[in-house]
Amino acid sequence: MRGLFIVLEGCDRSGKSTQCHQLVKQLQAKGYSAQYRNFPNRTTQTGKMIDSYLRQATELDDHAVHLLFSANRWEAMNSIKDTLESGITLVVDRYAFSGVAFSSAKGLDLNWCKQPDVGLLSPDVVVFLDLSIDEAEKRGGYGEERYERRELQTKVRNQFMKLKDDTWKVVNAAQSAEQVEKGIWSIVEAALSTSTNQRKSLLYSLWK
Ligand code: TMP
Ligand code: MG
Repeated sequence: MRGLFIVLEGCDRSGKSTQCHQLVKQLQAKGYSAQYRNFPNRTTQTGKMIDSYLRQATELDDHAVHLLFSANRWEAMNSIKDTLESGITLVVDRYAFSGVAFSSAKGLDLNWCKQPDVGLLSPDVVVFLDLSIDEAEKRGGYGEERYERRELQTKVRNQFMKLKDDTWKVVNAAQSAEQVEKGIWSIVEAALSTSTNQRKSLLYSLWK
């Protein structure tokens, strides 16, 4: 049976990366093969351009950087597909939802933002770690990277809400790390329990 394609989304400081790593560990402890992936993947050619932009070392047009983020996902699709088909579950830290939420928060048209990601592999589960901007700021404030500003993060959160559909599961990220972990695990456990026949085949059908 193929692996599950799990995506964690949320604003900066919501604990996504920590929870992704915890989830991989928990899956492995239960005997599942699981791996962590993240977007942007800063190691590829597109990823290096994105990294430089995020560190504010270079400037790029908003549309251009949006397309780079999308290309950074497209170039990973074959590898993601092969990995899932080999039976490995993937826990992915951000996906196209971040792409659209951030670029549209900067003022680009939301529908325009979705287009380059239309047809990516559809995740089986999207877990949204929900944290208010006040709570996020209490966690030691934002860092130095572009986008790590209260005003923009507030807009990003609003945009995320517009993308949320009934396939999303929301977990209150203001809880303790252990409680968040439990909340995520109960969602993942339900998804893992689908039998071979029930698990829908992998489709390049995001937003189609
Ligand atoms: P990171 O903090 O998870 O490494 O993500 C870097 C920043 O990039 C974060 O502020 C969210 C933003 N981002 C986009 O603007 N578009 C995207 O497609 C993705 C994946 C992230
Ligand atoms: Mg960050």
